[in-house]
Amino acid sequence: MTARNLLLLPGDGIGPEAMAEVRKIIAYMNAELGAGFTTDEGLVGGSAYDAHGAAISESDMEKALAADAVLFGAVGGPKWDDVPYEVRPEAGLLRLRKDLQLFANLRPAICYPALANASSLKPELVEGLDILIVRELTGGVYFGEPKEIIDLGNGQKRGIDTQVYDTYEIERIAGVAFELARTRNNRVCSMEKRNVMKSGVLWNQVVTETHKRSYSDVKLEHMLADAGGMQLVRAPKQFDVIVTDNLFGDMLSDVAAMLTGSLGMLPSASLGAPDVKGRRKALYEPVHGSAPDIAGKGIANPIAMIASFAMCLRYSFNMIAEADNLEKAIAEVLDSGVRTGDIMAEGCRQVGTVEMGDAILAAF
Ligand code: NAI
Ligand code: MG
Repeated sequence: MTARNLLLLPGDGIGPEAMAEVRKIIAYMNAELGAGFTTDEGLVGGSAYDAHGAAISESDMEKALAADAVLFGAVGGPKWDDVPYEVRPEAGLLRLRKDLQLFANLRPAICYPALANASSLKPELVEGLDILIVRELTGGVYFGEPKEIIDLGNGQKRGIDTQVYDTYEIERIAGVAFELARTRNNRVCSMEKRNVMKSGVLWNQVVTETHKRSYSDVKLEHMLADAGGMQLVRAPKQFDVIVTDNLFGDMLSDVAAMLTGSLGMLPSASLGAPDVKGRRKALYEPVHGSAPDIAGKGIANPIAMIASFAMCLRYSFNMIAEADNLEKAIAEVLDSGVRTGDIMAEGCRQVGTVEMGDAILAAF
């Protein structure tokens, strides 16, 4: 049997509470489905800072590099607001993204039928929505040089950020999007602003060439990113896979996420380049943070974390049936009216983190 090595980094706040529910699913899959997961644990964020004075220790970084996949909870909280910038909790996540070279951020926006009424849009616009935003995560304006504030000496300052993309960066993110499209509905929409940005002109060219060279079976469409934003809130179901750069992807994925309801529902995956065996380094995490306002109360919604694990089954281990079943279990539990406080609605039954995890496990 293939070994499947997971590193669990629960982190701070509600991170450990949500991770505990995933641990139950892993134990069940090992005992009942012979899944063969081995798990190791590490510290990240504020809890790592308290233990080692760093946002992640070197030995936990080594474990992350050796694992088939990393499951990450959340980091941060008021307790660490004043720690030095280099060791602040978020530095642990940034280090993982950088050292594992996680250049592809996958953000699904799925509207569970039972929550269609919770959207800010009309239910009929979002019911059945299932789109995947593929955001470039390691390049673009967040990392390009020069990046500085210059004193112009005349009472004025100048803030500079630089959008930079090289061919290989666009090719590899486009490749991820096209490959994912083949496992879905064979459609990709690429978004940039070629009308005003040189990097957008190059993005458009490279995506078009990559498509022509290796993925001409997939339907490719191009859209200006601002028009894409409008279309996302006007008629989101027209999209399937969207591929875009770091900055536009940051905003568009947050917009798309809110079409589908609460922060407590949203999973994500970050993937790296394939190794010689074709396996990608990968990290799976909920979109939400450590939620200090509800931490320790046992009321956090574990679905974002559990759905992140479903993505892990799908993308790191090719366990498609198991991933589908886990996502179906989430939908079933929501249909049955079981809800955590953040997604509570009239006529439903409110439960805590552990009961929600138990209900999903029972339906799995
Ligand atoms: P947050 O996502 O932690 O919380 C925002 C609001 O949503 C809060 O009211 C919270 O109670 C609620 N919420 C979030 N997840 C929930 C869940 N699973 N179930 C029920 N309610 C949930 O964002 P916030 O408050 O801006 O940041 C709190 C801390 O988390 C900060 O230290 C921040 O830096 C950190 N953070 C960490 C992230 C990460 O680890 N990737 C991402 C975002 C923030
Ligand atoms: Mg964002």
